[in-house]
Amino acid sequence: MQGPLCLRRTAERSSMTGILRLLLVTSLLSCWKQALVGANSWWSLALNPVQRPEMYIIGAQPLCSQLTGLSPGQRKLCQLYQDHMVYIGEGAKTGIKECQHQFKHRRWNCSTVDNNSVFGRVMQIGSREAAFTYAISAAGVVNAISRACREGELSTCGCSRTPRPKDLPRDWLWGGCGDNVEYGYRFAKEFVDAREREKNFPKGSEEQARSLMNLQNNEAGRRAVYKLADVACKCHGVSGSCSLKTCWLQLADFRKVGEYIKEKYDSAASMRLNKRNKLEQVNQRFNPPTAEDLVYLDPSPDYCLYNETTGSLGTHGRQCNKTSEGMDGCELMCCGRGYDQFKTVQVERCHCKFHWCCFVKCKKCTEIVDQYVCK
Ligand SMILES: *[C@@H]1O[C@H](CO)[C@@H](O)[C@H](O)[C@H]1NC(C)=O
Ligand SMILES: *[C@@H]1O[C@H](CO)[C@@H](O)[C@H](O)[C@H]1NC(C)=O
Ligand SMILES: *[C@@H]1O[C@H](CO)[C@@H](O)[C@H](O)[C@H]1NC(C)=O
Ligand SMILES: *[C@@H]1O[C@H](CO)[C@@H](O)[C@H](O)[C@H]1NC(C)=O
Repeated sequence: MQGPLCLRRTAERSSMTGILRLLLVTSLLSCWKQALVGANSWWSLALNPVQRPEMYIIGAQPLCSQLTGLSPGQRKLCQLYQDHMVYIGEGAKTGIKECQHQFKHRRWNCSTVDNNSVFGRVMQIGSREAAFTYAISAAGVVNAISRACREGELSTCGCSRTPRPKDLPRDWLWGGCGDNVEYGYRFAKEFVDAREREKNFPKGSEEQARSLMNLQNNEAGRRAVYKLADVACKCHGVSGSCSLKTCWLQLADFRKVGEYIKEKYDSAASMRLNKRNKLEQVNQRFNPPTAEDLVYLDPSPDYCLYNETTGSLGTHGRQCNKTSEGMDGCELMCCGRGYDQFKTVQVERCHCKFHWCCFVKCKKCTEIVDQYVCK
């Protein structure tokens, strides 16, 4: 895929010269925090559903100028690859949903705050949670683009061209139309990283460190999808004899990607900027992180109380589990503030019977259950 790579180089060369460059740098510096996340993140594509690009090609308003949250480089990519934008939005949405699933029993539950800022101010801290969010969003884009290629939705890619795996049994056919993870990976790298690459922070600054952190976590997320994609096969042959198999490359279920990145979150490495302006691990006795690992710079807030500065929503009103000693337990979830107990009525399907043919009939059973909610 030559397109995006060329685009980036020419874009950099043409826009980053002389006074223009100076102006850009200063204006970026003054608003780097908003630029990092804030109102202008491409994540907002997950919230504003991207309409079908065909509509815009014939319409007066080009799609790319209407989308909010794109950086200049991303806007250029948008113009070149308009048909990709729907899938980037879908990918971001899938990522956010998976984040909320993985964190639903934790104090920080990956809740999105409003339509524009997506995750609110929490992302301004270079925390583990920010690391997870960047990784899972990048993974979502690889996932969505790879599949869209396979489904023939994009003009610049098609089925995967991964060579036949060496360990595939010789009489199995290689050649089903696979998810194009190679393309998905490359495009997501261009698009997602564009925001970080076009910034030009002073060497050694906090902003540069954060940018390096984001890049590492974006890459870890993309690699997770790549790594978990696997060979899938289908049987052919007389009446399901499976004498013949056709195989292709298939994306893993995104839940698996979420679980994998969650493990990376648990083992994320604490980093700092060294004298050579590279990230290095704070605790040098541990193995250094690989490109598949998540990294963070700042300790996480405790997320216990509502705090406008940090963007923490607090755990007041969150449900907790009285008997659990984990993060979902009332002790940890409520940060020692205690909890209120409610009785609620739960309706469930029960005494289900199979009737010939073919439906299942159930009764409704009600049960009174205790619920615990943080003070
Ligand atoms: C978000 O957008 C939807 C639809 O565009 C709107 O109904 C809703 O009020 C918005 N929410 C916030 C918090 O702005
Ligand atoms: C919010 O968090 C900041 C940074 O941790 C802290 O300095 C401040 O006191 C907190 N504000 C409130 C109201 O708790
Ligand atoms: C996440 O937490 C916030 C605030 O603590 C709460 O308002 C929201 O309902 C929670 N979301 C889910 C899905 O539990
Ligand atoms: C609460 O936690 C306990 C112990 O971890 C677990 O067995 C139980 O299923 C949990 N209850 C709910 C409602 O999640």
